[in-house]
Formats: sequence, structure tokens, C-alpha cells
Amino acid sequence: MARLQVDDLTLRVGAGADALTLFSGLNLTLEGGESLALTGRSGSGKSSLLHCLGGLLTPQAGRVCWTPAGQPTVALSAVGEGARSAFRRRHLGFVFQFFHLIPTLTALENVAFMAELAGQDAPLERARAMLDAVGLGARGSAFPETLSGGEQQRVALARALVHGPAAVLADEPTGNLDGRTADAVAAVLFEQVRRVGAALILVTHDPALAARADGTLALGAG
Ligand SMILES: Nc1ncnc2c1ncn2[C@@H]1O[C@H](COP(=O)(O)OP(=O)(O)OP(=O)(O)O)[C@@H](O)[C@H]1O
Ligand SMILES: [Mg+2]
Repeated sequence: MARLQVDDLTLRVGAGADALTLFSGLNLTLEGGESLALTGRSGSGKSSLLHCLGGLLTPQAGRVCWTPAGQPTVALSAVGEGARSAFRRRHLGFVFQFFHLIPTLTALENVAFMAELAGQDAPLERARAMLDAVGLGARGSAFPETLSGGEQQRVALARALVHGPAAVLADEPTGNLDGRTADAVAAVLFEQVRRVGAALILVTHDPALAARADGTLALGAG
């Protein structure tokens, strides 16, 4: 079972008169199969916290420690950029508001590319199975621009999960979709994260989406 442990985390951004402490003394733990929603007003630091957890931003104090299932613990906040990006590729999956698929690759190739980056064997077969799991098995040869927003986001979910990550970090994954499509994508996200046993950390403004998660962390109180 994968595990995330965050101890006494402090993140400041900006400099001089513009310096801003987004949070300090933040603690949390999350196990594989559990989900956490990050909420709070615009500018409260939700994306910044997600970036800290994914090793894309370095905190001023505290520790972010990941223990993928059956693997040693990695203190992501304390290792160098090379080790952080290797860890991200192998053990994390990211989902963004605006999908961020590679436009020149088909849906299948977008997913297979991530499996390959993560060092998995048989990346095409894995990608095919994962596209099937998100209900897009028949659209593998489609290019992103020919897919609807909801379909593109399901390809992005498949890409985030194809390598069996310890966790999926999702920043407003339904923020660019209409209500019904958002519900359908959220259902697939929670179902597939549970299926592969990953942890899920998701930023959302949508109370209905936050309510699907096992817990909520509201930012904005420092
Ligand atoms: N590199 C940076 N330098 C200076 N300020 C920054 C930097 N990164 C973020 N900030 C500031 O930190 C605050 C938090 O930003 P962040 O993007 O984490 O907020 P958010 O909660 O995700 O907001 P939204 O809901 O609008 O996406 C903002 O005021 C932002 O301007
Ligand atoms: Mg944000």
C-alpha cells in the first residue's frame, strides 16, 4: 500500500514586499486507495500545495515523503531535481484542467508514451487496456482535437493511471467540463483510482466533487 506523509510543511512564494506565506505547519497522511480534496478560494495555495506534493515546488520547511507500495520511502522535498523527476515519472500521475494531451499523438499513443516514460514493458498493450477501462477503447486512433472535452479528459485519466502510480494529483480535473460531463469524468476518476489502488489528491471548487473524497483540506487560513 502506497503512503504519503507530509510533516510541518511551509511554503512561501514571491519576494520582498510581495512575499506571501501560503501555509505553514501543514501535516497530512494519505494511504493508497484514499482520496483528499483540496479546497479554498482562488489564490489560497491549492495548486501550489499540489506542486509541493509532486516535487515541482520546494518548500521552505518541512517534509514530503512518499512510500510507493513495496518500495523505500523517498523524501521528495529533500532530493535533487533528477531524482524528483524520475520519481514523478515512475510513481505519480497528473491530471490538469485543460487536459494537456500531446496534439500530434493519438489517444492510444498519448497513454502509451507515459507507460514508456515510466519504464513499463508492453506500453501499447497497457495503454489499450487502460483506454478500455475509461470507456474509450474504440477511440484509440483518434487525435485529441477530434475528441470532446470529456473524452480528452478520460484519455488524460488513462495517461495518469497507466503505469500504476502511487498517487494521482489532479488540479481541477472537471473545471473545464459541463455539469453532466464533469460528473461522468469524476465517476471514472474515482472508480479507476480505486481499481489501481492509488491515492488521489484533487483540487476542486466543486462541492459535489469534494464530497466524493474521503477527506477535505480547506486552504486559506495560513
Ligand atoms: N512563483 C510564484 N511567485 C509569486 N507568487 C506566486 C508564485 N506561485 C504562486 N504565487 C501566488 O501564490 C498564491 C497561490 O497561488 P495558487 O496558484 O497556489 O492558488 P490556487 O488556490 O490554486 O488558486 P486558483 O483557485 O485560482 O487556481 C497566489 O496569490 C499566487 O499569485
Ligand atoms: Mg489553482
